[in-house]
Amino acid sequence: MADQKVYQASTTAPVNIAVVKYWGKRDPKLNLPTNSSVSVTLSQADLRTHTTAACSSSFGSEDSLLLNSSPQDVTGARTQACFRELRSLRAQLEASDASLPKLSPLPLRIVSENNFPTAAGLASSAAGFAALVRAIANLYELSSSPTELSRIARQGSGSACRSLFGGYVAWQMGEKADGSDSVAVEVAPASHWPTMRALILVVSAEKKGVSSTSGMQITVATSELFQRRAEVVVPRHMLKMEKAIKEKDFEAFGKVTMMESNSFHATCLDTFPPIFYLNDVSRAAIRAVEDINTKAGKVIAAYTFDAGPNAVIYYEEENTEAVAGVLKSALGNLDGWQGRDIKEQASDNLDARAV
Ligand code: ADP
Ligand code: DP6
Ligand code: CO
Repeated sequence: MADQKVYQASTTAPVNIAVVKYWGKRDPKLNLPTNSSVSVTLSQADLRTHTTAACSSSFGSEDSLLLNSSPQDVTGARTQACFRELRSLRAQLEASDASLPKLSPLPLRIVSENNFPTAAGLASSAAGFAALVRAIANLYELSSSPTELSRIARQGSGSACRSLFGGYVAWQMGEKADGSDSVAVEVAPASHWPTMRALILVVSAEKKGVSSTSGMQITVATSELFQRRAEVVVPRHMLKMEKAIKEKDFEAFGKVTMMESNSFHATCLDTFPPIFYLNDVSRAAIRAVEDINTKAGKVIAAYTFDAGPNAVIYYEEENTEAVAGVLKSALGNLDGWQGRDIKEQASDNLDARAV
């Protein structure tokens, strides 16, 4: 190994919030899902991961990962799969061009920071593994496409594959046993629907009791509702959602988003023992959105919850006062509510404003 030089590259990746949810693995080793999913990628300016990847022969012999200043275990199969795949792509480049420095055998040192709650149901694993994979790809000067990187990020955390794109993104479950077609693709860029907004209601920043990985494993093993969801409900929702996005039909988008969230959380309740991700404040947010829609006489706001109590509310800019304004005053005085953590996000250039 040549010199002691430190090579490094940094990147940021945003979170994405699914409107058709991934929940269930058909192959836990390759992280292949039981159904396809669709998400909206939120702003980099607000909820994001910042990651630096470095390598050097001076780093000793071990790879390492520091997340929000705490050392993480990198020996897990999923982090190892990402490192292995990226090293192998770098090794191919090195084999074809002898003038390139031999970075692939060097230990990796990854330093990552999330500027939002980790493991609280706000998609930290999505932004986290998307940033990890892209930082190493940049370090290795790989020319891989976002879809190719999504195949690698998927092995770190399923939802991460969708954070390699902005805008509206589908994760196609794929059919192949090796997972090579289980990748993310763009449904539409953010600029396609520039009036779309998201409000993030941070109900709790605490680490969830049941991680997504183990929650979905228990669901697959015990829930009968789950099978119907994966085989019948989600394929229907996928078709409706992709059509709603293409046609910028907010009523259809909103209805599927809410029914999807409800279907996913019903499946969690049908898991044995049951998993409760929603709490009283989450349910108050659902009722407040219902009231807003009833008053408007149509769907102008749509709630969705990932594996945690925090709500994301989608709406269009013209309805900002009727949705964001009303929600803030309706929920602002509730116990357990942290009004200061309400964030508004524009989805055109995905610039965010915290209020
Ligand atoms: P979330 O709802 O936040 O995605 P998960 O249970 O899916 O929660 O995943 C949380 C886990 O993801 C963390 O415990 C950590 O292992 C991993 N993770 C989160 N952020 C990062 C990051 N920036 N880099 C690497 N791994 C991360
Ligand atoms: C409810 O991607 O966090 O947010 O692949 O085990 O890391 P692992 O799970 P993860 O699950 C996300 C579940 C979800 C729905 C979604 O993002 O589609
Ligand atoms: Co996650």
